[in-house]
Amino acid sequence: MITNTELEYKGNLYPNHIVEFTQDTDKLYFTTENGVVLQITILRGSLVRFRYATNYNFEPDFSYAIDPDSTMGYSKLDVVENNSEYIISTARLSILVDKKTLRTQISDIEGNIINEDELGFHWEENYEYGGNTVKMSKISQIGESFFGMGDKAMHSNLKGKKVENWVTDQFAFAKEQDPLYKAIPFYIGLNKGKAYGIFFDNSFKTSFDFSQERRNITSFWADGGELNYYFIFGPDMSRVVSSYSNLTGTPELPPMWALGFHQSKWSYYPESNVKEVASEFRNRKIPCDAIYLDIDYMDGFRCFTWDKNHFPDPKRMIQELEQDGFKTVIMIDPGIKVDRDYWVYNEALENDYFCKRGDGPLMHGKVWPGECNFPDFTNPAVREWWAELYKEFMSELGVHAVWNDMNEPAVMEVPTKTAPLDTRHNYDGYPCTHRKAHNVYGMQMVRATYEGVKKYVYPKRPFVITRAAFAGTQRYASTWTGDNVATWEHLWIANVQMQRMCLSGYSFVGSDIGGFAEQPDGELFVRWIQLGIFHPFCRVHSSGDHGDQEPWSFGVEITDIVRKFIELRYQLLPYLYTMFYKYTKENRPMIQSLVYYDQEDTQTHFRTDEFIFGEKILVCPIQEPNAQGRRMYIPKGEWYDFWTHESVIGGKEKWVAAGLDKLPIFIKAGAIIPKYPIQQYVGEKKIEELLLEVYYKMGVEASEVYEDANNGYDYKKGRYALSNYKLTGKENSLTIQLFKDGSFETEYETIKLNLHGLPFQIESVMVDNEEIELESLILSGGNILRIDKNFTSLHLSGKE
Ligand code: GLC
Repeated sequence: MITNTELEYKGNLYPNHIVEFTQDTDKLYFTTENGVVLQITILRGSLVRFRYATNYNFEPDFSYAIDPDSTMGYSKLDVVENNSEYIISTARLSILVDKKTLRTQISDIEGNIINEDELGFHWEENYEYGGNTVKMSKISQIGESFFGMGDKAMHSNLKGKKVENWVTDQFAFAKEQDPLYKAIPFYIGLNKGKAYGIFFDNSFKTSFDFSQERRNITSFWADGGELNYYFIFGPDMSRVVSSYSNLTGTPELPPMWALGFHQSKWSYYPESNVKEVASEFRNRKIPCDAIYLDIDYMDGFRCFTWDKNHFPDPKRMIQELEQDGFKTVIMIDPGIKVDRDYWVYNEALENDYFCKRGDGPLMHGKVWPGECNFPDFTNPAVREWWAELYKEFMSELGVHAVWNDMNEPAVMEVPTKTAPLDTRHNYDGYPCTHRKAHNVYGMQMVRATYEGVKKYVYPKRPFVITRAAFAGTQRYASTWTGDNVATWEHLWIANVQMQRMCLSGYSFVGSDIGGFAEQPDGELFVRWIQLGIFHPFCRVHSSGDHGDQEPWSFGVEITDIVRKFIELRYQLLPYLYTMFYKYTKENRPMIQSLVYYDQEDTQTHFRTDEFIFGEKILVCPIQEPNAQGRRMYIPKGEWYDFWTHESVIGGKEKWVAAGLDKLPIFIKAGAIIPKYPIQQYVGEKKIEELLLEVYYKMGVEASEVYEDANNGYDYKKGRYALSNYKLTGKENSLTIQLFKDGSFETEYETIKLNLHGLPFQIESVMVDNEEIELESLILSGGNILRIDKNFTSLHLSGKE
């Protein structure tokens, strides 16, 4: 066996033998003779944190990523030692720490090795900046797969790839191009049916190598800071993702309108143009909830100002749009124009809120308005000031929501595209350079924005969007994938990015539908809309310099198909809202890759295209021109074709027809899917009745519907309605039981059930154990029933 001393090559340093072990309740400390300390914290039976110090010295323990509300607290913890190692046992794991090398090996309680150090922790001293480049290498198995890592535009299985996390303004990025706009140093490993996760909580530039350089080795490293990672055991991927999500947080429920369809362009101006676009939506009966104002609404791109020539009376305009059912979303960038006649600039300057370079001068760089200075959002006082800047916009002018862009921060005309590395930051009282603060800069900006918007739209709920993000940013804002391109390849990328973000704890995501750069043709636009309506954030946005990208810009045929799919999104709003509720409450990703859905089926490990929307709807985008359909994999189990209602048995590939007006969609057997009537915007209509599409299954299936006032905070006081449906199908009967929770009274009194796939003819109906006249419930066609919303059990029986 090679010892660590022999490995001291290429400037790498390694821990040597352990000379001391101490325990402080849930924290264990192992100190080596050459001054390395490994701190292991048992946070839960399956959640363990590893931190390494060199020279006996830990850095202050501070993280922007970890949610202060995450649940911690350990259960069982035993430590024993033998000649060669310490053995730590938790309720779910056994961790060995090698006495000679400090390497660790983690097994489940059945003794299966889940994750194992190769060289383990090692480091290189950084003479230029101080501190270390910290590194970790682990053994990976031949059949092991890797998922997660945020917005990487590559195959969802990362095996054989090397990636970097450094948030970057990557205009018109390409497939495989890396890094992009987000830094989420979290991955999921899956080997022999068991999943685990590693979250490397380090905001410096981090890199991950998934068996690319060396075949059976996975390694990760950072340019500075601590080797500080959380190990999360599954064995189900859903548990890994939910633990990571719990650790880094989830957002609160957004207002429901944020889940509607949104239209954006760089830029709609002047006011007449905004109004024209809005009324076109209403005239053509295409549902839409929000319209976006990009940078041109500002006076010379100065944030928190209006171009009064183009927008003489923003308050009136916003009100008029609101009367027509439109919310107005405005853009705010981080760069503040250097201008002594500009109040925002003067306030920041007087209060010393701008970032400074290493030797003291203000950090400056060019963005849209020309030379700018940049507020240091890692300073809590700056965040408070920034939050207050929204007061006039939100509470006086009535702006509904804010869109933060360029917050990597993007700087023009410099090769690094961002702030110089010696730029200094407060980092909430742990001062550092941009090397450490870069990846969290945008996150802290949007955090401040979120605080301000939340305060000033109260009692309504805030809605905020960001382009740059670090792990944990999902607590504050939704996001989009940045400046994509109107190509078929980008449609593929958007699909992968969305699934990957959802696996990385960040569900409220969408792409610029149709592509930001260049111009889609009608076919590409339709196919992108068909995918986009199944993404949590659903917005058309484009650079606007190649032509129009509104739903009606491609002719009547395309307009009609686009309308049909946007209408489907509006019908599915209660389903989508329930998905969001489950994301916030149960940390369940809103979109699930097939590998998440069924990790035991190895067919799923290399699939990229198909995904599950929520828990019951299987979707597969068409990603090629001139397609009349496609081959796709249907996961195991029984499904219904959404269009034909035909039953399909999964576990195999299948050709699915999908002309331009169709998309392959399947519904899980046993599912109960809630639908609202089509509305032109959320709240347009009183919901007179809830429609439940019921898909028969032989056996049991649970479904939920979550409802509340769609905005405001009453739901936090219990005013929500959570309906848990349990469907039980037998040869000659179908029973639906309803268990309700919460005190919200929905507007409607009745529920309409549309039954699909019943293998028998209904002969008798019992509601709450009482036999009911068939005719009093059955509506047209025989398999549609109407029932009081407060039923507790419905039993249908008949003969085959
Ligand atoms: C950036 C954004 C884009 C926006 C443009 C102008 O490129 O990513 O969405 O339209 O800036 O503000």
